[in-house]
Amino acid sequence: MEFEKKILCIGAGYVGGPTMAMIAAKCPPYKITVVDINPARIAAWNSHSLPIYEPGLDVLVQKTRGVNLFFSTAVEAGISDADIIFVSVNTPTKTFGQGAGKAANLQFWEKTARQILAHSTADKIVVEKSTLPVRTAEVMQRILNNTKNVHFEVVSNPEFLAEGTAIADLENPDRVLIGSQETPTGLAARKAIVDIYAHWVPRDRILESNVWSAELSKLTANAFLAQRISSINAISALCEKSQADVAEVTNAIGKDSRIGAKFLKAGVGFGGSCFKKDILNLVYISHGYGLTEVAEYWESVIKINAWQENRFVRTMLESMFNTVAGKRIALFGIAFKANTGDTRESPALVIARGLLEERAQVVITDPKALDNARQDLHDVKEGLSFEADPYCAAEGAHAVALLTDWKLYQDLDYQRILRSMERPAFVFDGRNLLDHKKLFELGFNVFAIGKAPLRHF
Ligand code: NAD
Ligand code: UGA
Repeated sequence: MEFEKKILCIGAGYVGGPTMAMIAAKCPPYKITVVDINPARIAAWNSHSLPIYEPGLDVLVQKTRGVNLFFSTAVEAGISDADIIFVSVNTPTKTFGQGAGKAANLQFWEKTARQILAHSTADKIVVEKSTLPVRTAEVMQRILNNTKNVHFEVVSNPEFLAEGTAIADLENPDRVLIGSQETPTGLAARKAIVDIYAHWVPRDRILESNVWSAELSKLTANAFLAQRISSINAISALCEKSQADVAEVTNAIGKDSRIGAKFLKAGVGFGGSCFKKDILNLVYISHGYGLTEVAEYWESVIKINAWQENRFVRTMLESMFNTVAGKRIALFGIAFKANTGDTRESPALVIARGLLEERAQVVITDPKALDNARQDLHDVKEGLSFEADPYCAAEGAHAVALLTDWKLYQDLDYQRILRSMERPAFVFDGRNLLDHKKLFELGFNVFAIGKAPLRHF
């Protein structure tokens, strides 16, 4: 079959896979190929067991794979064949050299740019899908348009999907952002990307901007979202001291349309692969421009988050008579949020390690994230086990700590759980998901975020 346009995506991860599956579903005349250097990941995309868990993704991939969506390891062939190349490789925080711990590590990006340059024989549009520091496109243009008689136009099209709701977010986005240079070739490239999304996204939700605004908007959106969580988590600590209830405070402030109700859920802290890395990147960039106060302002969002994670461990320790050594503690959830198997930067991992340092016997349960958690904690030699069934995890435990907001934990039989536990039995609800009054009445001592403890002693 002759396809109207050939689109390549380099990087078959949490963003590349779902985004391209959606484009394939919405644009049947386009051929979409997703390539990756990781053969195991590509094999999984081509199998019945996809490499990531995302509600609705299976159906979308089944519908499109082999029709106009293809997964492959042939990066070079993919490059030479494509008209438009989305680059969705990872951009983690640098762990070495200048900017270590803050700056984005652009080595995967630059490698990709050089590969694109080496294997292109015709003009191409290169789309920044990964989250990148502001002004990366400038560097990319310089690398790409340096040597050959082929023109590359770099467009920024940052992705705003959240894991766990990726398919719904892609299907019905609040906005799609497309930034390009404002030259004739830049505007033509911008239009080509707008045309893809216009297949299903209402035109007034497709925003156009210059390329620097698009790059900076992505970092800024994540910084604002994370800042709301750190703000409410800071208030949660104040609630616990003052007997205010964080849920009531959230409800009251969220009703103010200027504040809004979303992203105000106090908890164990934010996790995920992006908030921390993107804010650190913003901090690094601000320092680079000599904007120390701006850098410090955003860095405080990260500091409160780390403090909130550690505060949870401290609360557990103090309320369990200042020792958890030898005590079995069941952790309900290790994913960084519900509806994903992703554990990157999960607060639950920090809490698990904090309890292990106190020599607790930690049992982790999670419906989707146990394989990832086993890898994350492979260095732990003692005191750690994994259990798929939450009832088995809680058996003989002194405490249950709920760390991921999986709905299934709401629906468990807590009377049965209590019967199998040691006394006094504790529940630490790190997501304020459970019915605290009911648990207290059953006989649990209940500690939640931003709420007065309910205890029987
Ligand atoms: P990921 O680690 O899941 O996927 C990246 C993939 O790129 C990996 O499979 C890796 O093998 C591949 N890769 C790396 N170098 C390559 C190369 N030279 N050639 C081919 N493949 C290569 O990462 P992700 O979560 O999909 O994130 C990708 C980017 O999107 C990041 O910049 C991230 O900040 C951004 N982002 C992520 C999310 C999210 O929810 N995860 C949302 C919005 C934006
Ligand atoms: C986040 C953004 O929401 C996306 O828009 C963005 O595209 C993405 O980062 C990215 O750039 O990677 P994600 O990290 O997948 O998406 O998940 P979120 O729903 O934002 O949750 C992040 C963390 O904050 C989770 O640990 C979650 O439990 C926590 N959270 C979220 C709270 O503690 N309280 C809230 O009210 C909301």
